[in-house]
Amino acid sequence: MLTNHNEKGMYSFNIDRFYQNYLKGPKLFKNREALEPSFIPDELPHRNLEIEKIAGITACALKGDVPPNFLCYGMTGTGKTATVRYISQKLAQHCSNKPPWWVYINCTVVSTPYRILAHIYNTIVGKEKIPSTGLPKDVILKKLLGLFDQHIKDSICFLVLDEIDILIEKKGGNEILYNLTRLNENLDQCRTSVIGISNKLKFMEFLDARVTSNLGEEEPIVFHPYDANQLYDILKLRAEVAFKEGVIDDGVIKLCAGLAAKEHGDARKALQLLRKAGEIAECNQTKKIMENHVEKAQKDIDKDHIVEYIFSMPLQAKLTLMAIFLLSKFTKEHIIITSGDIYEVHSELAQIIPNVKQLTHRRISDYINELALSGLITAVTKSMGHYGRTKIVKLDIEFNLIERVLSQVKKIKEYRLMDYKPIILQTDKVKIKNMVFKKLI
Ligand SMILES: Nc1ncnc2c1ncn2[C@@H]1O[C@H](COP(=O)(O)OP(=O)(O)OP(=O)(O)O)[C@@H](O)[C@H]1O
Ligand SMILES: [Mg+2]
Repeated sequence: MLTNHNEKGMYSFNIDRFYQNYLKGPKLFKNREALEPSFIPDELPHRNLEIEKIAGITACALKGDVPPNFLCYGMTGTGKTATVRYISQKLAQHCSNKPPWWVYINCTVVSTPYRILAHIYNTIVGKEKIPSTGLPKDVILKKLLGLFDQHIKDSICFLVLDEIDILIEKKGGNEILYNLTRLNENLDQCRTSVIGISNKLKFMEFLDARVTSNLGEEEPIVFHPYDANQLYDILKLRAEVAFKEGVIDDGVIKLCAGLAAKEHGDARKALQLLRKAGEIAECNQTKKIMENHVEKAQKDIDKDHIVEYIFSMPLQAKLTLMAIFLLSKFTKEHIIITSGDIYEVHSELAQIIPNVKQLTHRRISDYINELALSGLITAVTKSMGHYGRTKIVKLDIEFNLIERVLSQVKKIKEYRLMDYKPIILQTDKVKIKNMVFKKLI
């Protein structure tokens, strides 16, 4: 309806008409924010046991005593962050005087020991007092101890280290954790308690024994993935807050829950699917969210994951994919792409970009395997008689999508590789021992 073809037969999108129609269309959302990851709902279904355990550990803060340090872990989207934030709100509601302080640190964002100390300091004073680099760590630590006693006085301060595994991988990570879990020994008035959250189940193996004993006074709280029925309950409650009445049927919510349950019972994914389905329905100006909107939303999310995945690959893997892309682009579909061709084109690309090493056949073969495992390509091993074995490779995702993503990779853009035609496909050139010659005929 909104996608027209102009007089030259080219695709054209009429943005004015789109906005006019959108405004006239039905409004499905009542509170869109209720489907955002940062929203803390009034209820967290199926986290009763976890809430009960954490409430038990932290209750003594209500009477001014210091709760022990503890850890929460479980797979992604199982409600760890939401539960800890929920507890912080509840604890504040039930404190008659001096509610505890909470400093929340997301270690993927604030990731170095120095920045963690600076972040805690700045959060407590409420302004950017400590620069993000510069001072020696022990100086900030001393300042921080002083601040705890002067500013927080005899209250409790919870330090939540979310994604704590990222910190452990960093240089000095164990040391800062050790310091943070022993702050009370050097404080006169204030008392602190550390809550570590992680979705890497094995991260404890990387902790120093002394940190493990400081953090492990309590049994870790384990968050299990949700099944389809549990996700349905979570989505149902959120849909009631997010959408206007009668906009979504139970069957559609069940479909979202079922699709998300297949992907490791992740509530974040389930909510994302529901939100996207709502947005698609609104863009289509329908009065209700239908199953086909959920299916379309799932496809869009899968595409987003492909984009994210390609961007996160190391440069050499991107260049291996680029070689496959160029071979597909410049050959007709029926021409077979072998691992040998990919090796050749990758070598050409590596010569164009400074400081990029040429790889061996073996390394290229490893990258081909990785790309195949991730579902970006298919690779079938074929015997070539006495020439040995080779892999026959084919792109397994939409050509336009991969073109769009690769064209945004910095080095590919900088060296204009999107239009590069591999020498092995140039009919007037020939490559002999890494040298390119013009054919004389
Ligand atoms: N039991 C629940 N009830 C309602 N909403 C929930 C529940 N569990 C999770 N959610 C919602 O799902 C989303 C993801 O939850 P959360 O961020 O707490 O996951 P997480 O376990 O911290 O994941 P990660 O390890 O990836 O950080 C949030 O929007 C949260 O509100
Ligand atoms: Mg989290």
